[in-house]
Amino acid sequence: MESRVKKKIVFICLGNICRSPLAEGIAREYARSKNYAFEFDSAGISNSHRGESPHLLSQEVSMQIGVDISHLISRPVSFYDQFEVDYFVAMDAQNIRDLLSIGINEEKILKIGDFGLQGADIPDPYYGGLDGFLEVRGMLEVSVKNLCDELQQRGFDCCS
Ligand code: 4NP
Repeated sequence: MESRVKKKIVFICLGNICRSPLAEGIAREYARSKNYAFEFDSAGISNSHRGESPHLLSQEVSMQIGVDISHLISRPVSFYDQFEVDYFVAMDAQNIRDLLSIGINEEKILKIGDFGLQGADIPDPYYGGLDGFLEVRGMLEVSVKNLCDELQQRGFDCCS
């Protein structure tokens, strides 16, 4: 693990079509703008949307801030060998319980709400409309940037 040059962060939500692809897109764009050498991916706890593109409303609210996530494809977290991932960043408390239950090391799990959102869950927007996706985008714009800055400033070891 120590020999990898780029640190790998995988954002996690339930379906990998609404929240975590948006987090991935925001993170990629922000890290690129800041020259942070991180590698980002996203995945779902569930595999029920495997192979699908992000939800159209996630794509829409992302494009509104100049981030194109249309090329991303849903995949389950089981796709990853946890030894190749530095951090799994969960959207909500249930994601964390699910990650623990499939054997992901607790030290590798972070909650995105702990980065400037007082520990809040990122609400699942799947059964709502555009307003829910806009709320999610606002929360992720704050927290994903905080996460990136904190990991960079503390030499990436702040949370392990
Ligand atoms: P996500 O949203 O976890 O943010 O991708 C959901 C997507 C699909 C479902 C639930 C949440 N679903 O029940 O199919």
